[in-house]
Parts: sequence; C-alpha cells; structure tokens
Amino acid sequence: MGIFPFGRSATPIGLDIGTGHFRAAQITPGAATNTLANYAKIKVPVGSVVEGEIIDVETVSQSLTQLWKKSGLSGKDVTIGIASQKVIVRLIELPFMEPNELKGAIQFQAQDYIPIPINEAIIDAQIVNQFLGENDEKMIEVLLVAAQKDLINNTISAVEKAGLRPQVVDLSAFAIVRSLLDDTNTFLPEDDDTSVESATALINIGSGLTNIVVVEDGMPRFARVTPMAGDDLNRAISDALNVSFEVADELKRKVGLPKLTQKEEENPIDPEEGTQEDAVRRVLETQIAYFVAELRRSLDYYLTQATKVRKVSRIILSGNGARLTNITDYLENGLQSKVELGTPLAKIKISPKLEAEALVSEEPSMAIPIGLALQGLNND
Ligand SMILES: Nc1ncnc2c1ncn2[C@@H]1O[C@H](COP(=O)(O)OP(=O)(O)OP(=O)(O)O)[C@@H](O)[C@H]1O
Ligand SMILES: [Mg+2]
Repeated sequence: MGIFPFGRSATPIGLDIGTGHFRAAQITPGAATNTLANYAKIKVPVGSVVEGEIIDVETVSQSLTQLWKKSGLSGKDVTIGIASQKVIVRLIELPFMEPNELKGAIQFQAQDYIPIPINEAIIDAQIVNQFLGENDEKMIEVLLVAAQKDLINNTISAVEKAGLRPQVVDLSAFAIVRSLLDDTNTFLPEDDDTSVESATALINIGSGLTNIVVVEDGMPRFARVTPMAGDDLNRAISDALNVSFEVADELKRKVGLPKLTQKEEENPIDPEEGTQEDAVRRVLETQIAYFVAELRRSLDYYLTQATKVRKVSRIILSGNGARLTNITDYLENGLQSKVELGTPLAKIKISPKLEAEALVSEEPSMAIPIGLALQGLNND
C-alpha cells in the first residue's frame, strides 16, 4: 500500500528521509529476481530532521543534492518515506464499498476518527478485510492514514528543491512490510481459513525513531512511531559515564548487552564497581528494559483492538539499532515472541557495480529504502 500518490514512474528511487541518515535505493525489476542497481546514504545534519519532521527544509534539500551527486543516482523520481508521530494510522469499520468508492467516501468519513481538522489533513485509506456485520450486512475494515498537510508539504518542498520529483509519499512502516515480508512468510499457522491467531510485528530501530508495525495475514493493521531509539542508548551512556555522545556510541557498539544467561549466573555485574565495560552493560540493560516496556505498550494496544489475534508470535527487527549485541534475546524474553533479524537483501541481487560487502554490513538499515523502491515496482 502506497499512500498519497501524485504521479507514477516505472522505477522510482526509494528515498528514506530519516532523522539520522537519508538513504536512497534504486531497484531494477527482473523476471526472477530484482536487482539493487544503486544505493547511497548520507548523514543528516544534526537537528534538521527531528522525530521524522523536517525542521530545516534548506539544509535537507542541500543534503539530498549532495547525496545524488556523490552516488551518481540516475533518476529523479522518488518514492518518499515518512515516519512521524504526527501521522495517524487507524483501523476503522465501514459499510461495504468498492475500493474505488472508498477514496472519495473516506474524505467525508475520516473526521470522526482523526484529531486533525480534515482541511488540514491529507487522507488515504485501504481496505484490509471484509466481514459480515451483526445483521449479516457486508462490512469492510479499512486502514485509515492521515497526515498533517504541513508535514507532507515540507517534505515535498525539500525534495523538490533538490531537483527531485516526488511520485508517492509512503509510510516507512509500509515500506518495512514490503521489504521484510513476502508471500512465503506472511501467512502464519491458522486455525482454519477464517481465523488468524497470531500476528507478526516488524520493528525498525533507527537513530531517533523506532517504527512498529503489526501485520496480520500480510496486511498492516497497526503502525506507530516512538522516539525511543538507538541514540537514546548513547545519551544514557554519555550521561552515566561522562563521555561524549560519539564515545558513548563506540562503547555501545563494542560492548553491547550482556548475555542473558550469563547475566545472573556466570557473569554477575556489580552495581557499584567494575570496569567501564561493566558500567556500559548496566546502562544498556536498564535502557533496554524501558525500550521493551515501550514496545509492549504498543503491542498490547494493538492486541486490545485485534479481534481474532491473541498473540504477536513473531517479531522481525530492522534498522541499525537492531545490531546491538544480544538485543534479540532481550526482546524475545521481554515480549515472549520469537525475534529474528530481517534480511531486506535476501531476495535481491546486488549489482556488480556496487560494493556488496559494505552493503551487507548495512543490511538491517536498508529495510525502509528498499521497501520504498519496491513500492514503485508493485502495482499496489
Ligand atoms: N553495531 C551496533 N550496535 C548497536 N547499535 C548500533 C550498531 N550500529 C549502529 N547502531 C545504532 O543504530 C542507530 C542508527 O540506526 P539507523 O542507521 O537504522 O538509523 P537512521 O536511519 O540513521 O535513523 P532514523 O531511522 O531514526 O531516521 C544509531 O543509534 C547507532 O548507534
Ligand atoms: Mg532509518
């Protein structure tokens, strides 16, 4: 599902405008496999994008111009990803209508469900399910997406100022679904044909934002963004150990979380004494407990709304924040789900022109740009 379409280009470039990096991925379709034809990233000047919102349009557009220059990206048509707490995603029930009727009807119906005045919002909707209501009337479940016009317009201005042509604005959450799930792994064990029992959550941990999306039967049904992400760990280490943010970042990557089993038995961490590495581990453990609690709140909220699903049985992680040593064990333990690392490159050939080795080490962070690039290829 791509939202807010403006035009259509055969193979637009997926452009992930994040808080830490801008990333662009270009995919060329093939009969059997798609090929990653180009890929590039650039660091975002600090403060120019905050919690997914472009604060400094000029600086962002300059960075995008630089990104295109340094990478030799050939196209100008882009599918842009947005992730912000200001984008509202709701699952609603409406009387049955055809998909082509929904686009018009939703403009009149959406106000009941969103806190933004309808004339200040850009609305999109997609049918995710059909069912029979109490009186056997046909009903649809609709995923409603509403974004403040200012948020979208700012993003579009920055992109256009860099000489690019926005084709589609999509939610980063939907891009993650596209790049990490496919027909072979969206369908989980079901009771019977009509009752799905468990869902998959996809969690992308970036620098300044974490995207959470829950998928049932291949369809996203819940999406939320939280500002709790990888850089919070750096700030906590920096405060506790009195080191710079950069040193904290290095320590985080080097030390990581202690092994869960080692924690109590083999390798007790003294709360008072110990090496600098012990101190880093302690801070990380505390922070991850907050992070797990934040994720649990989101997943619990999703479950209170879910009708058939009782459990999120599987979690797929992405984003470089997911590279924290042992994080999968902590999430598995804290959320009681099977946790794995997503592989957005699994089904994509890397063009021989690109440095495959460097790309593979970056794989977790490629879920969003690749998913955005795939949007242009799928006719969804
Ligand atoms: N090996 C590692 N161990 C732990 N954390 C890591 C590792 N490598 C990178 N990170 C962390 O991952 C985060 C960056 O992730 P990513 O590159 O996916 O985010 P981004 O796209 O720049 O930001 P955002 O998605 O918020 O816009 C940073 O907090 C960084 O410290
Ligand atoms: Mg990111």
